[in-house]
Amino acid sequence: MDKKEKLQALNEDWSLKNTCVLKKTATQAVFGHGSANAEIVFIGEAPGKSEDEQGIPFVGAAGKFLAEMLGDIGLKREDIYITNIVKYRPPNNRDPEPSEKEACAPWLYEELNLIQPKLVVFLGRHSMLNFFPDLKISEAHGKLIHKKFKHIKTEYFLPLYHPAAALYNGGMRDTLKEDFALIPKILKKIDAPNVVA
Ligand code: URA
Repeated sequence: MDKKEKLQALNEDWSLKNTCVLKKTATQAVFGHGSANAEIVFIGEAPGKSEDEQGIPFVGAAGKFLAEMLGDIGLKREDIYITNIVKYRPPNNRDPEPSEKEACAPWLYEELNLIQPKLVVFLGRHSMLNFFPDLKISEAHGKLIHKKFKHIKTEYFLPLYHPAAALYNGGMRDTLKEDFALIPKILKKIDAPNVVA
């Protein structure tokens, strides 16, 4: 099996054995989407209405904005991998409960450890808090974090504002675009951590 097939098998296996209660109300599991060989994995919070219907993450308005920002740095959705902390839509798009996040966490960690991206980008505070519960998104956004976790092979993390929150807020939108534009430089820095830019 190549990496792409392994990732597909992992997602199918988890969708069967997952015990998340949201399975009862969601239309389907929304698997991560994109390249199994991606250098960057983006992690959102949970699927919304369009994602639940189509079974693909970030296909609504926030997804279009994300695709636009990817284009600005010369990337397509197929070049990266996008997934969510929680793989099932919470009813009426409410925030996922801690137990729902816990039920999907090992699935997320296995995805990450199979892909082994250079960089994990958190889309929004909920995604960031899952890994860094003490940080504030208003202070942490756009700043590269280097941290070794026992259960994840990737060591570099970048928190960003959530595209859905920034979409209709002029100031936040500009900040998100500026932070996003840092990604190519950040990837170079990860490759040569001792070189001062
Ligand atoms: N917001 C998210 O956090 N994830 C999606 O898949 C869509 C919108």
